[in-house]
Amino acid sequence: MKILMVLTSHDKLGNTGRKTGFWLEEFAAPYFTFLDAGAAVTVASPKGGQPPLDPVSDTPEGQTELTRRFKQDPAAQAVLANTVRLGDVKASDYDAVFYPGGHGPMWDLAEDPHSIALIEAFYNAGKPIAAVCHAPGVLHRVQFQGQPIVKGKRVTGFTNGEEEAVHLTKVVPFLVEDELKRLGGLYEKVANWVPFVVTDGRLVTGQNPASSRSGAAALLKLLSPDALTPARFIDRFEQIHGVHSGFRRNHAKGLGVSGFFDSNGTGVRLSKAAVFEPGRVPVIGRFSLDGGQPNQPDRSDTRRGLGLQFALANGEVWRTAMINFPLFPVRTPEIFYERLLAFKHDPATGQPDPAQVKAFEERHPETVEVLKTITAEPQASGFGNTTFHGLNAFLFTNAAGTRTPVRWILKPMQPFETATAASLDKNYLFHELIAQIHRQPLRWRLIVIVGKPGDPTNDPSIGWPADREQVDVGTLTLDRVEAEELSAATDIIFNPLMLPAGMAPSDDPVIRVRSAAYVESFTRRAGEPKEPSAITPADVKKGE
Ligand code: HEM
Repeated sequence: MKILMVLTSHDKLGNTGRKTGFWLEEFAAPYFTFLDAGAAVTVASPKGGQPPLDPVSDTPEGQTELTRRFKQDPAAQAVLANTVRLGDVKASDYDAVFYPGGHGPMWDLAEDPHSIALIEAFYNAGKPIAAVCHAPGVLHRVQFQGQPIVKGKRVTGFTNGEEEAVHLTKVVPFLVEDELKRLGGLYEKVANWVPFVVTDGRLVTGQNPASSRSGAAALLKLLSPDALTPARFIDRFEQIHGVHSGFRRNHAKGLGVSGFFDSNGTGVRLSKAAVFEPGRVPVIGRFSLDGGQPNQPDRSDTRRGLGLQFALANGEVWRTAMINFPLFPVRTPEIFYERLLAFKHDPATGQPDPAQVKAFEERHPETVEVLKTITAEPQASGFGNTTFHGLNAFLFTNAAGTRTPVRWILKPMQPFETATAASLDKNYLFHELIAQIHRQPLRWRLIVIVGKPGDPTNDPSIGWPADREQVDVGTLTLDRVEAEELSAATDIIFNPLMLPAGMAPSDDPVIRVRSAAYVESFTRRAGEPKEPSAITPADVKKGE
């Protein structure tokens, strides 16, 4: 799947003397949405090279998960700095085109003959086109069968009210809403700044910056209607666990923690990531239990999770979400999606339906052995003496440019004890964690496992040989615990693609699907009212 994105080269905001350009979120959100869906993305602009960024979109309020990811992704920055010239691109080389907004396109792309001809070529070839925010304005001279392309079509775009709110009604060459209506478009809108996307046939339009990720998702849906999209993945979690307003769609039950990571400097030989330079960085984390039920009783055999965010001195962050099993039960996102349903607990028995499990295992016999390896591991008695595995393989690059495939684990410094039967206290694992942290900080060693050429990096269900070098890169200390209502971790997406320079994803398809699914889960939960979490601020205080 090949997608073309077209950005503006225009940087003057009319006669205001101020700068404009493209809107950062409207580039970053679709760019990563396409990439994470496995598309090859080419970015073009009328002049080629680095397009101008609207400075207003780069303020702290304008930042989102995906703009932050862009800021620490040198490969994405290089793509943006080297956009191809619009005059050199051919519609026949791509499956679809996406126009991000910002005010810039209203001046150049809206009148650019190359752009107009290109959109017509895509549309006439039966290929989908998408435009978000001000970019629907670039359609105003585009024709289909001798008529304006938007005529008689359901469309949206930046509203007159939104233009008024940014005080540019008198500055822009035309108002997107008025122009789409004048051309005969069936214009629709929702309240200012609320995400809104309209698909009519193979034309996708989005209202404002917040609509850029869903606009990209709508374009992908036209390209591959049966694809396993992030929305479908999250729908499946909701199908299995129900919708629990405001909670994560997986790993819903959790507790915030914080502390710090002391790097011993050993990791520098593997990765130039600033987190491995000797010294201390602050960490925010979240312990969790697998599953979308925020009030499930703690059980020793429920998968345990630990999400961590390392805040690096240079402003980058590194996020990782780890679990207590040494292998992922399946090798691809598609099989995981299927497995979720096959292992859905029957409310009557509290167990999966054996017939469904059997049918799944017959379709995927390789998963039977993996499950045996996973369940053969003895469970630790609590969170504090659990080993957490990053599972997916990543690539480290050091200052000399050497790339090494790696995985990582956290080995507890608290002594191992085997889990006993579940306690009568339905929150016993979390209550014990609170009590332990109040008594003394909990510590783990961060161990990087160094892969050798030929070790599979694209399959989290296969472990590497046990003799692979293990490098102890430092110690994680967690010395504070906070209920979800008070913890910064609640609003963090422990997105496995939030990586500092010096770390990159491997070819494991699970990583990209995880990233997109976590963002989708966050988008849903962030817009919902939230019930109190199972572990309350009072529970945390009690342990003090
Ligand atoms: C295709 C595979 C996977 C999917 C679709 C998936 C899906 C999800 C979703 C939707 C969330 C909630 C995100 C949020 O709202 O912030 C989540 C959380 C989590 N996942 Fe996954 N996951 C996958 C694989 C994995 C793997 C391989 C691991 C372990 C290495 C893992 C560990 C975790 C942990 C620890 C959390 C909780 C993080 C937190 O506290 O926010 N997941 N997962």
